Amino acid sequence: MNFSGCRHVVSVSLVVLAALTGCDKMGGKSKDTGSGSGSATVVGSGSAPQASTEDILIGHYASLTGAESTFGISTDQGVILALEERNAAGGVKGRKLKLKTLDDASKSTDAANVVQRLISEDHVVALIGEVASGSSLAGGKIAQQYGVPMISPSSTNRKVTEGRDMVSRVCFLDEFQGYVVAKFAKDNKWTKAATLFDQASPYSKGLAESFTTEFTALGGTVATSQAYTAGDVSVSAQLQQIKTSGAEAVFLPGYYTDVGNIIVQARKIGLTVPFLGGDGWDSSKLAQIGGEAIEGSYYSNHYSFDEARPEVAEFVTKYKARWKGEVPDGLAALGYDAARVMFDAMARAPSLGGKELAAAIAATKDFAGVTGKITLDANRDAQKKAVVVQMKGGQPHFVASIGPKGSVDEAPAAGSGSGSATGSAAGSGSATGSATK
Ligand code: PHE
Repeated sequence: MNFSGCRHVVSVSLVVLAALTGCDKMGGKSKDTGSGSGSATVVGSGSAPQASTEDILIGHYASLTGAESTFGISTDQGVILALEERNAAGGVKGRKLKLKTLDDASKSTDAANVVQRLISEDHVVALIGEVASGSSLAGGKIAQQYGVPMISPSSTNRKVTEGRDMVSRVCFLDEFQGYVVAKFAKDNKWTKAATLFDQASPYSKGLAESFTTEFTALGGTVATSQAYTAGDVSVSAQLQQIKTSGAEAVFLPGYYTDVGNIIVQARKIGLTVPFLGGDGWDSSKLAQIGGEAIEGSYYSNHYSFDEARPEVAEFVTKYKARWKGEVPDGLAALGYDAARVMFDAMARAPSLGGKELAAAIAATKDFAGVTGKITLDANRDAQKKAVVVQMKGGQPHFVASIGPKGSVDEAPAAGSGSGSATGSAAGSGSATGSATK
């Protein structure tokens, strides 16, 4: 048994022992969070079925290690906060909630494996996961096959829920996200853009496509479209092409590890134009990897810690108190929301059977989330606002909120009132400014 391979064990129970046994097989990590020591306490004298007093076990599959590790860790911390709050308030249907998280090492093949384990070995009632669309597609296939309801907190590729009635999500889609960034670029008077995407990632590819569609519809031109594969050491050939294309901004819909490395390379070859991204940039590691090179860049996201909404401030305070002062990123907020939507549906569902629980999740309406009001449509997707943030001093800061109808309704686009974003950003250490050093 490989104890050291496991991230950390919050409570000791039979489930934990099962998890630890699995740990060395997979090389993965697991941990349990939940209601205390005994996992199968039976109270009462007879007529009540045993199941009604047992803990409700939820499985979370997440990238606790690997190139996307901050995604999984932040999400898990959000889920745990929600679960602890719900247990403190009495749990669901008089039962305590318990969480088992398995690490998929940021790989979609591992995602499928750990979902299989959570279902057939641990018999979870429902699943939360994943962040990366590729992993949610792989895990969702298994969840659908076994009829176990799953909520993805943050996977934005359309196909994640398509044709899978067990699978829902609490976030918006990349069709919308592509529009948000395209509109932001247009509002800031960049009319000629380039895209650089990860050809092996359904998320990255899909988002590059929707940006191109929307940017073109708004009158912009995509001068060149270049591809890389996650983990590529050098993308200088692609960056050179972009440089010679004369693009005024580069849309780079990747995950933070690649994004940081690529922008550093871009600055080295003298590509000084602003970079724009999607939610995949959202990580405390982005600034560590990208340093000065990413200062001034913009990306779209699901929420920003400095948004002026009372529910955001309340969440940030609670999260920091629980997690050693850490500022919650978008993943943490979405993990928290996904878990709370799950508990709400569990409470409403006539039973926790797969079909009934999935139907209750799908019926979610006007749920007051930290990331906005959550109503699931006929495809079990949410329609919500997005925010645009800018990297400043190594942290993302709120710039604008863009709603599904396309109006910038909470703050002007960067620089409006004092010229274009390029102009205003130049004065505060923009990508353009810092890159020339
Ligand atoms: N939307 C991304 C995907 O589908 C995942 C992601 C969401 C990453 C939010 C960071 C923040 O792959």
